[in-house]
Amino acid sequence: MTVQTFIPSAVKAASENTVTQPTHTTDVSIKKLYIETQGCQMNEYDSHRMADLLGDSHGYVLTDNPNDADILLMNTCSIREKAQEKVFSGLGRWRKLKEQNPDLVIGVGGCVASQEGDNIQKRAPYVDMVFGPQTLHRLPQMLDQHQAQVEKPKKEKIKLVDISFPDIEKFDFLPEPRVEGFKAFVSIMEGCSKYCSFCVVPYTRGEEVSRPLDDVLAEIAGLAEKGVREISLLGQNVNGYRGETFEGEICTFPELLRLVAEIPGIGRLRYTTSHPLEFSDDLIQCYRDLPQMVSHLHLPVQSGSNDVLQAMKRNHTIDVYIDKIAKLRKVRPDMHLSSDFIIGFPGETDEHFAETLQFIKDLDFDHSYSFVYSKRPGTPASELPDDTPEQVKKDRLAQVQQVIKQSSIDKTDAMLGKIERVLIEKVSDKDPNVLVGTADNTRLVTFIGDATWVGRFAEIEITEIKTLNLVYGELLNLEPDVA
Ligand code: SAH
Ligand code: F3S
Repeated sequence: MTVQTFIPSAVKAASENTVTQPTHTTDVSIKKLYIETQGCQMNEYDSHRMADLLGDSHGYVLTDNPNDADILLMNTCSIREKAQEKVFSGLGRWRKLKEQNPDLVIGVGGCVASQEGDNIQKRAPYVDMVFGPQTLHRLPQMLDQHQAQVEKPKKEKIKLVDISFPDIEKFDFLPEPRVEGFKAFVSIMEGCSKYCSFCVVPYTRGEEVSRPLDDVLAEIAGLAEKGVREISLLGQNVNGYRGETFEGEICTFPELLRLVAEIPGIGRLRYTTSHPLEFSDDLIQCYRDLPQMVSHLHLPVQSGSNDVLQAMKRNHTIDVYIDKIAKLRKVRPDMHLSSDFIIGFPGETDEHFAETLQFIKDLDFDHSYSFVYSKRPGTPASELPDDTPEQVKKDRLAQVQQVIKQSSIDKTDAMLGKIERVLIEKVSDKDPNVLVGTADNTRLVTFIGDATWVGRFAEIEITEIKTLNLVYGELLNLEPDVA
């Protein structure tokens, strides 16, 4: 049997539930892997690494059909209750597949695995392997262990559960990411030590650990050589990056950005997600000095009320946020800003909510994400009295989302006549003369051009607004390839 080269997909934008895209194969002798990814971009990144890992070690190829798979992996999210509920309903469906095919291997990873540990197997005994976000690199060994004990009687089998936090070891064991397309995520730190009172991340992913500087730079240089032009640096508190240098010194996030910008080929830099407290003056200077930095920033604030911010343990006031944005807009007047908001936090009054609504209007966000507060077991906020009726929270959310949507529409409309820097990503599926790219603010831009330009940056004048997320334009200037 010849094992096909494994090529993971271009990474999709984070959504609540995605399937890591397959390399199609019709060869039935090839072992197939199906991964369901829930939650954030970190999970998207981790799922791709899992696929790389099992592709390299055991020759698995991704499939988009769970009925067709030899292994099913669920990379789970526990940030809100709804996400967590999805896990057991999803596993219930997989149980039926296992009844039809007893050789099927089922693994559960990610933050629910981290939180629940062997409870997963108590509720779903047909799950063979449980691994956490920091132990996914041990998947090949776990799979071998599973296979070695398949024939053993049940009472002799050891439970395959590993949800420990072995520091940053994970990255040392992952194969070099394989590339498709011009954009890539690079995880630079794991975990979070901010302990916002509502958030489960420090407990599921552990405290902050940064990858060593040289590892990050080498990974990015390798990606650039393979044609990647846009890098998104990932971390739960990405601007808290403190990576060790070869000389044993500490490299901060702005210093890292400057070094990445020097790598030939990297024409655009994004990052997610940052905390306002560590949004330093030095980081603001990077926006002034580095043309590779996109004019788009996702800086979650969570609430427009100082009382609520304090109860959330965000450790800053609204004025601190406003000042930082004002400084940023001084060096980058065209900055597109987005944020996250939690609505209905315990103790949020009508007045607090009105402050949030006003804040969203004042700050002129490009788009934002908003969620009803979800009580997470083990977090300090879960102890707070919460007497706001669910319906009131839902009504508040609807109001916020209305304001957010209108400002997104206004921002897209405002692109008309402007010049946008676009990374040309592909030829349109519908018309071979039309190219498709993304602007700094993530809107899709289409224009007439030549297929050989794909992978380059261009200045495009926007001539028509098509939808909230799609605009048409005309080429003004094609940048030379940055490699
Ligand atoms: N450091 C990451 C946090 C990931 S959580 C970041 O800043 O993006 C992503 C968002 O989920 C948070 O910003 C917050 O708005 C929301 N969130 C986190 N915990 C939540 C909870 N218990 N209930 C509702 N929304 C929550
Ligand atoms: Fe969560 Fe706050 Fe960290 S939202 S991921 S504890 S910055």
